[in-house]
Amino acid sequence: MDSKNDIRILAYESSCDETSTAVVKNGREVESMIIATQIKSHQRFGGVVPEVASRHHIEVISQITAKALTQANVTWQDIDAIAVTYGPGLVGALLIGVSAAKAASMATGIPLIGVDHIMGHIMAAQLTSEIDYPALALQVSGGHTEIVLLQDPTHFEIVGDTRDDAAGEAYDKIGRVLGVNYPAGKTIDKWAHEGQDTFNFPRAMMEDDNYDFSFSGLKSAFINTCHHADQIHQELNKYDLAASFQTAVVDVLATKTIRAIKEYQPKTFIMGGGVAANQGLRERMEQEIENLSIGLKPKVILPELKLCGDNAAMIGAAAYNLYNEGKFADLTLNANPSLELPYADKILY
Ligand code: KG4
Ligand code: ZN
Repeated sequence: MDSKNDIRILAYESSCDETSTAVVKNGREVESMIIATQIKSHQRFGGVVPEVASRHHIEVISQITAKALTQANVTWQDIDAIAVTYGPGLVGALLIGVSAAKAASMATGIPLIGVDHIMGHIMAAQLTSEIDYPALALQVSGGHTEIVLLQDPTHFEIVGDTRDDAAGEAYDKIGRVLGVNYPAGKTIDKWAHEGQDTFNFPRAMMEDDNYDFSFSGLKSAFINTCHHADQIHQELNKYDLAASFQTAVVDVLATKTIRAIKEYQPKTFIMGGGVAANQGLRERMEQEIENLSIGLKPKVILPELKLCGDNAAMIGAAAYNLYNEGKFADLTLNANPSLELPYADKILY
C-alpha cells in the first residue's frame, strides 16, 4: 500500500558495462531492478571497450525503462523523480543514461536528479539496512578504492584514496595473467579459498600514516612472479597465487580501514562496490570489527551481493536522499567522467 508521503524514483545507471534501470520506493525498497550486462561483448578484448559499451547502452535503454516500470507495476504518473548517474565513468556510456533521463524528464515534467556513481555504490547499503550517521565506507570497485566519511546521507568526504590502480582493476589485471576472463574478481576470490598464502606478496603503504592505497606494486610483483616461472618452465599453483594475492589486498584494505574506524569512530561501517562482493574481504572485515572493543564497534552493513556491482537501485537510493534535500538537476545536466567526491583533507601526494 502506498502512503501519500511515499517517494518513488526511476533510476538509470550506464557508467560502464551494465545498463540498468530500477524503481525504488523511499530510498529503501527496490520495486524493480533490471540489469542488462554487456560483459560477454567485452570479454574477448580483456576489458571494457568504450565505443562498444555506448552502443549497447543505446540498444537497450528504452526497453529496460519500460521493463522497470512494468515490473514495479507503476506508470510514469507514479514516479516522483528521475535519477541518473552522471559521473564518474566512461563519458560516452554516461551520456546515454544522462540523455535518456533528461528526455524522460522533459517529456513528463518529472524532476531530474544527478547522482555520483560512488555515492550510489555506498548507498546500496541503505537498501539493506538503516544507516546511522556518521558512517564510514570502504568503497572498492573496478575504478575506485576509497575510504569515505559520511556526515549525513548527502555529505561525503574522501579520507583515503588509491594512488594508482584500484583494487578491482588489480584483480582484473592479475586475472588476465592467469587466463581468467574479464572481470576476474569473482573467480580469483573462489580460487583464493582453495589455496594458501605461500608467495607473501608486498603490502604497500600498509603501515603508513595515511589512509591511501597503492596496488600497482603488488600487481607488478604478481606478474613478475608468473613471468619468471614461465621463463624457467616452472608451473605455479594458481590457487596459491590467488590466495597470496587476495590475502595481500585484504590485509591492506582491512588494516587501513580498521585504523580509520578507530580514528573516526563511525556509528555504521559500510562496504560498497564490485569488490565488496569479495568473500575474503567480507569475512575479514566482519571478524576485525567483531574484535574491536565494545565502544568502537560500528554497526556493519555489507550490501547483498547483487547490489555490490553496478546497478540502478543504488542510484535510486542515493537520489532519494538528494530529493529530500531538494537537490535537483536541470536539463543542463551533463556527463562528468571525472566527477569526484570532495576530499576531507588534501592528503594526496
Ligand atoms: O563496482 P563495479 O561493478 O564497477 C565499477 O564501478 O568499477 O566493480 C567491478 C569490479 C571488477 O574489477 C571485478 O573484478 C570486481 O569488481 N569484483 C570482485 C569480485 N566481484 C567483482 N573483486 C574481488 N572479488 C569479487 N568477488
Ligand atoms: Zn561501479
